[in-house]
This record gives sequence, structure tokens and C-alpha cells, in this order.
Amino acid sequence: MHLTWLGHACVLLTGTKKVLIDPFIPEGSVAGTDPDLVLVTHGHFDHMGEAVTLKKPTVAIGELARYLQAKGVPAEGMNIGGTIETGGIMVTMTPALHTSGIDDPAGAGCAGTAAGFVVRMDGVCVYHAGDTGLFSDMKLIGELYHPDVALLPIGGRYTMGTKEAMVAAQFIGAKTVIPIHYNTWEKIAADANGFKTAIERSTDLSVFLLGPGESMDIPPSR
Ligand code: NI
Ligand code: MN
Repeated sequence: MHLTWLGHACVLLTGTKKVLIDPFIPEGSVAGTDPDLVLVTHGHFDHMGEAVTLKKPTVAIGELARYLQAKGVPAEGMNIGGTIETGGIMVTMTPALHTSGIDDPAGAGCAGTAAGFVVRMDGVCVYHAGDTGLFSDMKLIGELYHPDVALLPIGGRYTMGTKEAMVAAQFIGAKTVIPIHYNTWEKIAADANGFKTAIERSTDLSVFLLGPGESMDIPPSR
């Protein structure tokens, strides 16, 4: 599987299928990625992004899925703890400690709660934490799904910062850790290099700092 960080929390997984998670990038558009499946962790603009205009098969928590359906998106709802299989891709929805309001001029609303995703495709398991604070049940995500890759927010203020994300990485135990949701704006500035150094000094995990648009290959582990 090929993993591309498009910036902020937006990640494209390319394998048998193309899975786009949180289709928002601060500048430009994700329309050219032409995903088979879009996953949206929660209703905030910097995650829902272009989900409405893409109009691709989309998976989100039930309340958010219904909002997307009303906008003409072929969205499927699920909820935390559940797993669905779609086109050979296994998608499990995980908890996230965060809110999920929709910023819509037609009426801001609550879109259920925020979530994360565990995605399994082509023998690779990727955990995208979404926006979240640290929670100790991340240990269960490690025990149950053994992710190869953990995509963790480190920007602070709205999510975990580097200190909490270091603990999260150890709870999850994914050998490859990729920080996301930082440095997009001044308010979520983070020292990603310091995060990498601190984790790699004290654990056997590896932190990969991708620039926006950069990719890496994730070999199958099972
Ligand atoms: Ni958010
Ligand atoms: Mn966010």
C-alpha cells in the first residue's frame, strides 16, 4: 500500500482501491485523487472538506452520513466499535475524544460524535485517529487490530499535542507513526522533529515526517 499525506489530516491510501480520509487540504483541492471510498472522521470543516462536492461513496458516523446524504452524497452510516466491509476494504470506527459540529450557514448542527478509523486493505492496517485527545482505550485499538501505521494528531489546542501523542503511540504500538494535524495554522504549530527524536530515543517505533503531498510505501504485514 502507498500512503500519501496530502496535508493537515488528509491521507490517501492507494492499493487495490483508493481510500481518501478527511478530504480537506488547506490550499488546493483533493478532487484529482479520484477516490473509490471517502472516510470522514467528523463534521468540522477541516475534515469534512470536499466530501460534499466529491460525491464519492463515503463512510461516516450515522448522523454525519445522513447530513451528507441530504447533500446528495452516497454516504453510508456506521458507529463507534463497528466494522463494515466495502469492496475488499475493512473499515472499523474507533472512538475519538472530540466534538463534531457542522459549520453550515443553513444551520450549524451536531453530527454525532467525532471518530477515528482503522482501515485494512491489501494486508496493511492503518489507524487514523481523527481529531482526539489522548485516551487509554487506544491500548485496545493496538490489541485488537495491531495497526502497522498510526496517523496521530500532534498539533495541540484542538487535539493531542506531542506529549500526549507520544503516549498514544506507545499505547497503539504501530511500528510506523506519522504525525498529522499540525503546522497547518499557527494555532496548531508543533515540533514534529522533537516528537520524532523523543519517540525514537525511548521506543522501537519509527516516526516518519512526510511533507504535504509526500508518500511512503507500507509493506503488507499479514
Ligand atoms: Ni475537529
Ligand atoms: Mn481538526
